[in-house]
Formats: sequence, C-alpha cells, structure tokens
Amino acid sequence: MSEPKKLFIKTYGCQMNVYDSERMAEALGAEGYVTTEVAEDADMVLLNTCHIREKAAEKVYSDLGRLRPLKLAKPDLKIGVAGCVAQAEGEEILRRMPLVDLVVGPQSYHRLPAMAKAAEKGRKSVDTDFPQEDKFDHLPDRPRANVRPTAFLTVQEGCDKFCAFCVVPYTRGAEVSRPAERVLAEARGLVEKGVREITLLGQNVNAYHGAGRDGDWTLARLVRELARVDGLERIRYTTSHPNDMADDLIAAHGEEAKLMPYLHLPVQSGSDRILKAMARKHTADQYLRLIEKIRAARPDMMMSGDFIVGFPGETDADFDATMDLIRAVNYGMAYSFKYSARPGTPAAEKTPVAAEVADARLQTLQALITSQQRAAQEAMVGREVSVLLEKAGRLPGQMVGKSDYLHAVHVQTDLPVGEIARMRIVSSAPNSLAGAVLDA
Ligand code: SAH
Ligand code: SF4
Ligand code: F3S
Repeated sequence: MSEPKKLFIKTYGCQMNVYDSERMAEALGAEGYVTTEVAEDADMVLLNTCHIREKAAEKVYSDLGRLRPLKLAKPDLKIGVAGCVAQAEGEEILRRMPLVDLVVGPQSYHRLPAMAKAAEKGRKSVDTDFPQEDKFDHLPDRPRANVRPTAFLTVQEGCDKFCAFCVVPYTRGAEVSRPAERVLAEARGLVEKGVREITLLGQNVNAYHGAGRDGDWTLARLVRELARVDGLERIRYTTSHPNDMADDLIAAHGEEAKLMPYLHLPVQSGSDRILKAMARKHTADQYLRLIEKIRAARPDMMMSGDFIVGFPGETDADFDATMDLIRAVNYGMAYSFKYSARPGTPAAEKTPVAAEVADARLQTLQALITSQQRAAQEAMVGREVSVLLEKAGRLPGQMVGKSDYLHAVHVQTDLPVGEIARMRIVSSAPNSLAGAVLDA
C-alpha cells in the first residue's frame, strides 16, 4: 500500500472556521489524507482563511508567499485556499498567486475531494458556489477516533443582518439553520467519542430556527433537547445578536444547569448615532436593558462583547458613549478592533476616522476592558467552580481546564482529561486561575 498523503491545514478567523477545518480534514480523510502538524511534510497545504479585517486577508497572501520555496522544493505539493477570502476573491487568488491549485468557499467545501483529485492530475479549480445542496448532507459522518472533551458544532450559518461594516453576509451567504435532528445526531456522535462540552456555532446563532419534529425549533428548544443527552455536560453557543436574544433563551439560562453562564453578545458601539450608521437596529439603552433581563434570569452571567472603534463618523462624544456602556455592563471578556474598511460594504464608501485617533481610542478602550477582565478574574478567588479538565499542564501532576465562566484554570490532580471537577479558586495569575479540588 502506498504512503498516506499528508494534509496540513492552517485556520484563520472565527470558531466556525475551526469547525470547518475539521470537516475538511474529515472529507479529505475519506480520500486517504491524514493530517500533519508540519507544513514541510505535507502533500497538500490548505489555508482556511478569514476576510473580516484587512489584516486578516493580507496575512493569507504573505503566508502564501512563504509557501513558495516549499512548492519549488516539492513541485507535487498542492496548495488550496478555503474560507472567506476564497469566497470573496475567488479567481483573483489564482491570478495573484499562481502557486495556488484550488480555491473553495465556505459553502462548497464538500466538493473538496473532487477538487483535490483534479489538483493531483494538474488541474486547477475554483468553487465559490452557494450550491442548492446542503454541504452537511455530503460530508462524511464524523469519524470515531478522538478527541478532546470539547467540540464546536455549527447549527446555523450565514447572516441576513448586513451590518454596514461587515463582509460575513457576502462570504457566508444567507442565514440557514440545520435541521434539529441532524444537530442532535451530530451531538450524540460527539458525546459517544468522549466530548463533554459542545459550543453551538452560528454567525447569528440565537437566530437559529431549524426544522424540528414539531415545526421550527428555536435555539432555546435545541438547547433544552441537547441538555437531555446523557454524557453531554456543558452547552455554550456563539455568536449572538442582541435583537435575537429571545425570552425563551433567556429563560433557559435560568433553568438549564448545563447551559453555561457565559454569553458573548457583541454591541460594537455605545453611541446610538453610530449604532444607527452601523445598521445594528437597536439602541445602547435597549442593549443595557437586555443585559439586565439576562442577569435577572442568571445573576452570575459573565458577559462578553465585541467593539469596533473608529467607525466612519465616530466623534469623541460617540466614543465616550461606548466607554460609558462598557462601564455600565462590566464585561468579563471583550474583543475590540479598529474599524477596517471592507470592499463591497456600505461603510467602506464613507470617510474614515484618522488612524491616530482610532489608535488612541482603541488603546483607551482596551485599557478599560483589561481592567474589567482582570477584576472579573480576581473576583473568582475564593469561589467554588466546576472545571472541565482539557489537557495536562506544564508542571508534573498538573491539569488545565476551563471553568463554567470560561476562565483557564490550573490544578494539581490525578483526575483524567474529560472529568469535570469541583474546585475552589485559590489564586489569580494574569491569564489564568489556580484551583484546588474539593473532596467529593
Ligand atoms: N456575527 C458576529 C460577529 C462577526 S465578526 C456578530 O454579529 O457580532 C466578529 C467581530 O469582528 C464583530 O463583532 C466586529 O466587532 C468585528 N468586525 C467585523 N467587521 C469588522 C470591520 N470591518 N472592521 C473591524 N472589525 C470588524
Ligand atoms: Fe456581520 Fe452584523 Fe452579521 Fe454579525 S450580525 S455577521 S457583524 S453583518
Ligand atoms: Fe472571518 Fe469568515 Fe469567520 S470572515 S470571522 S472566517 S465568518
């Protein structure tokens, strides 16, 4: 038998790309490819790319440039570009980077095996269709060998919201929810392999409306059914839009013990003027009242958010309003970005804020966020939490895992990976906590 072909995948961008990369590896696995961690060993290199900001997209081209010597040394090496840059730029990638053999978008990667075969025969291909058929129906069942105790599971994909700054509706296409039964089957399969925590993924995951046994299911309904799967201990979901944060989902947070008390709910700005220009379709006050409602259902909810500074037209007063909102919410975690004009989006037509101004605002905002994150982490000291043990730590006898609130926790224990241990948090380091296991 011939040596298996080796596949190296590099993943950029969001968690959905992490999930997609796994599915691509599985699809090519059925064609005899095994994954390698070393690009130099690979017969095929796939870059699963992100188009969200200019820097992310440009990184792909510099990484492709760095593959040139490898391809020269190994002419049989196949190079593929997948993901959102592939969708946005298509053929253009082949023109700019002749070393690329195939380009495949996020909705057509179930066709990757055929494209790989064509590449092996020296034929280049580009597939950026939004096909009629559902890629999930054409991907192989998830294999048995495994695994980590945590997994991502895409339940909804695409976006119809068209925020003025964002490329996702163009790269991922229209909002589509997977049928509930498919999601449940995939979840059960993951649990059989030893997965204890599943993070449901969607660009607007809380807009989930997949077909169920008795009509369309909401995300809350899906979560409640998943909570009945034996062996599945923790459920998370991301990313949510404030306007889709339905009452039944908020209620589930108060009632379902398996639904973790951590919620990523991006708001982008605290200024109503900017929110309007961004087409977010809600006000800062509506967002704040929503968070009050969520905290009424689940008082210990750890809030997480995303912010964009320097959106076209953002004044000092607008920025101050964002700072006020951050103070009012008190985030456990937040991600912030300098606005990046994206080709084809409405905001890209507008005059940008001066780079120095945007840089200064980003620094100011990040300092506030960092202090909130630190305070939230330090406030965990002395508290009892559950930690899902994910892997061995660097010290002998040490394990690392995640608390219910998604903090990384180090602990000395004999318990194996996949166990959920009750522990008391004893100290806080800059990026993690230390815990001591409580006797059962
Ligand atoms: N679907 C999610 C997030 C999508 S992208 C949502 O609706 O919130 C993740 C984050 O990237 C966004 O929340 C936003 O903060 C940031 N982002 C998106 N487009 C951007 C742009 N053009 N410039 C800077 N940041 C951007
Ligand atoms: Fe982008 Fe807005 Fe859709 Fe989120 S809701 S993916 S930010 S368009
Ligand atoms: Fe990036 Fe596409 Fe995700 S643009 S953030 S990889 S949906």
